[in-house]
Amino acid sequence: MKNIVAKNIADDFPALRQTVNGHALVYLDSAATSMRPESVLRAVDNFYRRDGANPHRGMYDMAQRATDAYDGARVTAARFVGADAEETVFVRNASEGLNIIALGYAPLILGRGDNIVLPITEHHSNLVPWQVLARRHGAELRYMYVDPRTGVLPDSELDAKIDGRTKIVAFTHVSNVLGTRLPVEKFVAAAKAVGAITVLDCAQSVPHFGVDLHQLGVDFAAFSGHKMYAPMGIGVMYGRRELLEAMPPFLYGGDMIEDVREQDTDFLPPPSKFEAGTQNAGGAVGLAAAVEYIESVGWEAIEDNERKLMKRLTEGLASLKNVSLVGNSGADVGRYGVASFNIDGVHPHDAATILNDYGVAVRAGKHCAHPLLAHLDAEFNACCRASLGIYSTEADVERLLETLPLVRRRMNLGD
Ligand SMILES: Cc1ncc(COP(=O)(O)O)c(C=O)c1O
Repeated sequence: MKNIVAKNIADDFPALRQTVNGHALVYLDSAATSMRPESVLRAVDNFYRRDGANPHRGMYDMAQRATDAYDGARVTAARFVGADAEETVFVRNASEGLNIIALGYAPLILGRGDNIVLPITEHHSNLVPWQVLARRHGAELRYMYVDPRTGVLPDSELDAKIDGRTKIVAFTHVSNVLGTRLPVEKFVAAAKAVGAITVLDCAQSVPHFGVDLHQLGVDFAAFSGHKMYAPMGIGVMYGRRELLEAMPPFLYGGDMIEDVREQDTDFLPPPSKFEAGTQNAGGAVGLAAAVEYIESVGWEAIEDNERKLMKRLTEGLASLKNVSLVGNSGADVGRYGVASFNIDGVHPHDAATILNDYGVAVRAGKHCAHPLLAHLDAEFNACCRASLGIYSTEADVERLLETLPLVRRRMNLGD
């Protein structure tokens, strides 16, 4: 039954129906970007065919439909992550959202001698902005280190790093390299105890399980649409209402003002205050359609399928000769959609290039997480990553496992 469900889902994604080098494509790079179902493609197409006027600006029917579509998309996006529409700002992607938080809000609270605390797991999008900010304000950037063997963050790291001078604790929900779920509830409790704000990067969690930002109690969050079956160029920045009200706009221009006089301006309340200029309304409509697609499949089916595939994927990789998991001792610590590995003596770029010859698409390199890769001490400071989406099947995983032994043979390194 589960197989039938997964097979039907893959049929909804036209980009998955292609051959690569004479082989049916096996797409195992959904953590980089996911493919989009017909319903999302159709929603974007319909928006531009029928309603493509500029939202919030015209009095005519078409402009009203565009406004309704854009504002409705925000309500859907907010519902998806347990937020209110006023707290849900459309941005280009998670990177933009995290930059706005770091460069727009954090300067209000950060001073010389304060510190910002992050787990070492962070994607550059939730690391470099904090580096820049810390340097600019004479603050310290402190890392909480995962166990490089298991990828798990010990509680002692929170106790050791978060203190009375901590102003910001920023963390990913799910690591894009390890697939581990970071202990958000513990971060929030530790940050609250010292009056620090929390910033959640949920780019890799929203495609895999239900996220409720109000329940998690984080102050800010960000995610991208393109990793959750929506188009590229649309994402969400979330902030608690009071914080968004206190935060100055990051960009200035049309559709974010109440009134402009020659020498000063009154801004609209959030979220409009953060959406200067014509927005990616078609992308927002696509994001809402992606939410509806996820909801139509249902978290239970999505999580069941993924749990089963992750088990086979990690056990299969661990059992292959000359293949080693990265940051994963094999213990079941709960991983979401991502398995990182290396083939002995083979640079991950070579491995991914050879896998592509057999139609298997995986990501290889440092995964925009250089400090994490250095900490994990992986061969070549890099690794291959196979990642799953809503459409992934057992057959995809088996194709990867069958193809991997061919890599060393192709490089004349033996079996
Ligand atoms: C955990 C995490 N955060 C942030 C990002 C950045 O996403 P985007 O490139 O869409 O801004 C990624 C992308 O891979 C990611 O995996």
